[in-house]
Amino acid sequence: MQSFREADTTARNRAMNYFASHQRLWLFGYGSLIYKVDFPFLQRRPAVIRGWERRFWQGSHDHRGTPAAPGRVVTLVESADAFCRGMAFEITPDVFEHLDNREKNGYLRVVVDVQFADGACEEALVYIAGPDNPAYLGPASEADIAAQINHAIGPSGLNRDYLLHLADALRDLGAEDAHVFGLERLLRKQG
Ligand code: SIN
Repeated sequence: MQSFREADTTARNRAMNYFASHQRLWLFGYGSLIYKVDFPFLQRRPAVIRGWERRFWQGSHDHRGTPAAPGRVVTLVESADAFCRGMAFEITPDVFEHLDNREKNGYLRVVVDVQFADGACEEALVYIAGPDNPAYLGPASEADIAAQINHAIGPSGLNRDYLLHLADALRDLGAEDAHVFGLERLLRKQG
């Protein structure tokens, strides 16, 4: 079995220079980046990306769990007819110094098209943890995912709070997400 340390994507993300010549660029956040904004930004705008859906399929050994008892956090999974609502942040490239470290447990920078409420489109970077990264946990039943989230805790706090904050942030955005809200209902029942 591969060690979760091999999931460290910092070097690969640092080598990703798609927007290297840009003074400012868009970052699309769909998970904790929506509600835990510990980085500077120039402006933020609700946005949507098409062909992707949010899933609690990524393991968290570094933020919301431990190597012995990983938590679950969101990643994006390709799905032709799906769309994912989130928040786009316009940032300067130096912000990646912090973001690559924060998202290092399996997430890679990927280029996507984001669309804003007024219909305008821009290219953006999004952090996605694909199925080939060692921290990937993949699908499980809603009950199993909720139970794992309910018990996990890591250096960034309770895994449960990650989910509840995300659900609140999605409601604030007016975003429907059956997966997240279904898990939220189960968690609130489990107390
Ligand atoms: C994101 O929020 O866009 C990436 C996943 C996370 O950090 O929760």
